[in-house]
Amino acid sequence: MSSSVRVLPLPRVSADEAAAWHRVVAASMAHDLPGVPAPDPGQIHAQLTQPALSSRRLSWLATGADGVPVGVAGLRVFTSPGQEHLSELELHVDPAHRRLGTGSLLLAVAVEACRTENRRSLIAAAPADGPGEAFGVRRGFRPALTLDHLLLRLDELPEADLRRTAEAEHPGYRLTGWTGAVPDELADAFAAAKNAMNDMPVGDLDYGSVAWDADRVRAMAQVIADRGDALLTIAAVHDDGTMAGYTEILLPQGSGPRAQQYDTAVVPAHRGHGLGVWVKTAMVRRLRAEYPDVVEIETDNADDNAHMLAVNHRLGFRSYRRTREFQLDVPAT
Ligand SMILES: CC(C)(COP(=O)(O)OP(=O)(O)OC[C@H]1O[C@@H](n2cnc3c(N)ncnc32)[C@H](O)[C@@H]1OP(=O)(O)O)[C@@H](O)C(=O)NCCC(=O)NCCS
Repeated sequence: MSSSVRVLPLPRVSADEAAAWHRVVAASMAHDLPGVPAPDPGQIHAQLTQPALSSRRLSWLATGADGVPVGVAGLRVFTSPGQEHLSELELHVDPAHRRLGTGSLLLAVAVEACRTENRRSLIAAAPADGPGEAFGVRRGFRPALTLDHLLLRLDELPEADLRRTAEAEHPGYRLTGWTGAVPDELADAFAAAKNAMNDMPVGDLDYGSVAWDADRVRAMAQVIADRGDALLTIAAVHDDGTMAGYTEILLPQGSGPRAQQYDTAVVPAHRGHGLGVWVKTAMVRRLRAEYPDVVEIETDNADDNAHMLAVNHRLGFRSYRRTREFQLDVPAT
C-alpha cells in the first residue's frame, strides 16, 4: 500500500478538481478501452456538479506525494423509493499509478460512506476480463450481469431499406417524436410506458425498481438539459392513446460523432408487432436527417436479453465490447 497517497473528499467540485478528474478518467479509459471516447472535460464537469435524477453524488480524489491526482471515486446514492438500499460506484486509477493500493483505498472510503448512508448494495461496472474485474473479484464483488455493447454505423445503412421499414404500415399505431421534455398531452402515457422497462433483465443485480409518473419523466428531461445534453425520443402511440413503445437517444454535449442509446421499450401487451424495429429505424432516419455529425450509436444490452439483441442485430448493430456489472453486499463492519 502506498502510504503517500491521500484521499480527499470533494464536497463541492471546483473547476480544477473537475479537470483533474477528467485527466484520470481519460488516462484510465485510454488504457483499458482503447478506441472508446472518454467524456470530454465539459461533460465531466457537468456530471460532477449538476444534480442527477433521484440520486446524490459523493466524490473523492486521490493524490500522490507531489499532490498529483492519481485516482477518483464517485458514489451515486439513490434516493427514489424502491432504490434506497442502492449505491453505484465509479472508480478509476491512473494506469501509471496502479497496483499500489490506491483503488483499494478509494473503495474503502466509498464502502464506509455506504455504511453511513445505510446502503446494503454497491454496484459497479468494469470492462469484462480487464483489471477492474480482477480488482472487483479480489475485493469481494460478485459478477451479476454481463452487458454486450453494440455499435451501429449510420453511414452504412441504405436509405431505401430504412425508409421501407420506417414507413411500413402498423395498423392501429402512429409514430411521434420530440426533443427534451415529453409534450404534456403524452406525459402520462409516456410514464406508463417507462414502467415497462422495469421488466428489463438485470441479472443478479439488486437494482430495485422505480415507479415513473409524469413529474418524474419531466424531471429527467430537465436534468439532462441542465447537463447540456440533448434527449431525442420517438414513440409509437396506439389509437386508444396508450404509448406502445418508445426509443430514446442521448446526444452528449460536445461529444460529436457518437450518440448513446438510452431506453428502448415496448409495453408487454404490444410486443410481437415489430414496434421495436419501427421506432428505432425512425430514430436512425431522424438522426441522419437532423444531426449529420452523428456517425454512430452505442447501445448496451444484457447478454441474455435475446429480444432486444435480435432487434439491434436486425438494425445492423455489431457487438464490439463487453462490460460486467458487479455487486458488493456491503459488509457490516
Ligand atoms: C480497477 C482499478 C481501480 C484498480 O486500481 P489499483 O489502484 O490498481 O488497485 P489496487 O492496487 O488497490 O489493487 C488491489 C488488488 O486488486 C487486484 N488487482 C488489481 N488490478 C489487477 C490486475 N490488473 N490484474 C489482476 N489483479 C488485479 C490485485 O489483487 C490487487 O492487489 P495486489 O496488487 O497486491 O496483487 C484500476 O485498474 C482501474 O482504474 N481500472 C479501470 C476502471 C475500472 O475498471 N473500474 C472499475 C472498478 S470496480
